[in-house]
Amino acid sequence: MPGFEFINDLEKKAILDLFEKNKKKYGTFPLFRPRKYVKKFEEKFANYIGVKYACCVTSGTAAIKVALIAAGVKKGDEVIIQSFTFVAPVEAIIDIGAKPVLVNVDETLNMCPIELEKKITKKTKVIMPVHMLGVAADMDKINKVAKKHKILVIDDNCEALGAKWGNKMLGAQSDMCTWSFDNGKTITTGEGGMITTNNKEFFKLCKEYMDHGHENNPKFPRGRDTHRIPGFNFRPTELTGIIGLVQLKKIGKIIKNNKFYSQFYIKLLKKYKGINLRKIPNKNKPLNDCVIFNFTNEKLAKTFVKKLNENNLVTKNVPDAIEWHYAMYWDHIFKLFGLNKSKLKQKLKKSSYILNRSVSLPIFANEKIGKVKNKIKIIKFILDKMLKNE
Ligand SMILES: Cc1ncc(COP(=O)(O)O)c(C=O)c1O
Repeated sequence: MPGFEFINDLEKKAILDLFEKNKKKYGTFPLFRPRKYVKKFEEKFANYIGVKYACCVTSGTAAIKVALIAAGVKKGDEVIIQSFTFVAPVEAIIDIGAKPVLVNVDETLNMCPIELEKKITKKTKVIMPVHMLGVAADMDKINKVAKKHKILVIDDNCEALGAKWGNKMLGAQSDMCTWSFDNGKTITTGEGGMITTNNKEFFKLCKEYMDHGHENNPKFPRGRDTHRIPGFNFRPTELTGIIGLVQLKKIGKIIKNNKFYSQFYIKLLKKYKGINLRKIPNKNKPLNDCVIFNFTNEKLAKTFVKKLNENNLVTKNVPDAIEWHYAMYWDHIFKLFGLNKSKLKQKLKKSSYILNRSVSLPIFANEKIGKVKNKIKIIKFILDKMLKNE
């Protein structure tokens, strides 16, 4: 699972070093200017993803809002988003005054590229695929639709840092990509986010918006700096930069361990006829921070989760936090756009059919092998009993 499992003395030492090095400068904003470590984190992160620019902000939600502003999304524009996503991108869209347009997910649990094309209108400004729970949306198909209709793609990769699309890191295929470093993510800085892009103008606009509109014009001191757009404050402190740099060094191990441990679950689950593993697009190398599968009916999924919980085992978001990850539950937001509960239900029939039968098992990347094997034993015991009784 995430970077929090790997927080140790290295992060602590980096923070103490920062204070030690700045001892003589106390009282001159060592946690803000000159943001040396944030800049280094941005550079290393961009390099890791294989893109030119990265802009660090205070959260993944902030990253999405900043990217949408940089893309020129305004009140009344439409942004296409999928039904199964954390609520954050929808919040960012409505915060700008734009309209979130829902597309169902398919068996990959990501945006259905076929339905996507049907949702494009003259008002569509951005397509926002969300790579859910470690697996990439089909970026080739989504980019093809976007190119045909000349629409920008901003992907939300908060949940799949470390996954690949073909030979490239996932996140390098779009106009802009947004990332989160909150406590549950592949690497964590406690709270934190990033926008990556190959487009210099988008990068500059992101930098300006997240810093009150400051252009950081080299001809002027900061107090006399120039501006061209209204901005906001989404600036991270040096603590984000310094922890991010340490965590980034650990990402290889996190990904390797995820893959190793997830294989135990996949091997077991493949033995059961009544179980289908999540469909993974061909070009995708997933993050493996969870293993998702579905049963033939909802009742079986519910029974399995009940037995799992009785044995002190948990799920990852599906179904334990589905209310925060599925638009079906967000009539408090979509009623603003004329969608009450029953209209949402009708619209999201396809997503519900898939999600209500699905279960996501978390992978803890720093777990002892004995503990993993014990969990596998328990899951096998539950499934043997359940599926035999079917
Ligand atoms: C898909 C997705 N998008 C956006 C976010 C928001 O990130 P943050 O918590 O850093 O604001 C999250 C966090 O859970 C997420 O899972």
